[in-house]
Amino acid sequence: MKEVWGKVEENREIAPGYFALKLEGDFPPSKPGQFAMLSPASALDPFLRRPFGIAGQGPGWIRFIYKVVGRGTALLSRLKPGESISLISPLGKGFSQVEGTSLLVAGGTGIAPILYLASVLERFVLLYGAKNSEELLVEEVKRTIGEKHRIVYVTEDGSFGERGLLTEHIPEGNFSIAFVAGPYPMMKEFAGNYRGRAQFSFEARMGCGFGACYSCVVKVKKGGEEKYVRSCVEGPVFDGEEVVWI
Ligand code: FES
Repeated sequence: MKEVWGKVEENREIAPGYFALKLEGDFPPSKPGQFAMLSPASALDPFLRRPFGIAGQGPGWIRFIYKVVGRGTALLSRLKPGESISLISPLGKGFSQVEGTSLLVAGGTGIAPILYLASVLERFVLLYGAKNSEELLVEEVKRTIGEKHRIVYVTEDGSFGERGLLTEHIPEGNFSIAFVAGPYPMMKEFAGNYRGRAQFSFEARMGCGFGACYSCVVKVKKGGEEKYVRSCVEGPVFDGEEVVWI
């Protein structure tokens, strides 16, 4: 973990309220499921740092997809190409990749870490849901993973793909593992409906991002004991077997 600076190459609105941010710079390597704390205004204002799941990384670049939901993300959305931004990356623990065909499950902005994971996996089926077609980042998905994988799109209002909740359309298949990212209620529902092995990436509220403030706790059971652990250090990815859903 260290602070690095990136230069904005692209900060583009890809759907109403959703932005894709690509930074150029010399960033430490990350793995899918890890996150970064970005400071949209100034490194001197640590309280404005926000956690963002890494949506992709390669030599000399790193990418994020975010939704404008408050002051920090509104400031972020105003960054122009060529401007500099401070980030601490990578943070947390990512997904553990396993052999075989995976089921990737993304709800809303959970698509960011799932796209990063998809970019390094060979065999998977993607289940991706959002409220409506405007919030479903179909072009972004196609651009990242192409057309050769099976994708099940779900919208609550039926404006694109299947209608209903994502958890009502879990594809059949012999999956070695499911990787899930999205809002807590969706992941809890998925955990209740899915019988195979799964890992879940939590979108917890985070203050510091590195273990100091305890604002990000998730309830788990370890060694027969239930306890709260810090999502930013012990997660944000947890095995389904250890999560205690509340
Ligand atoms: Fe501060 Fe996790 S965000 S301890």
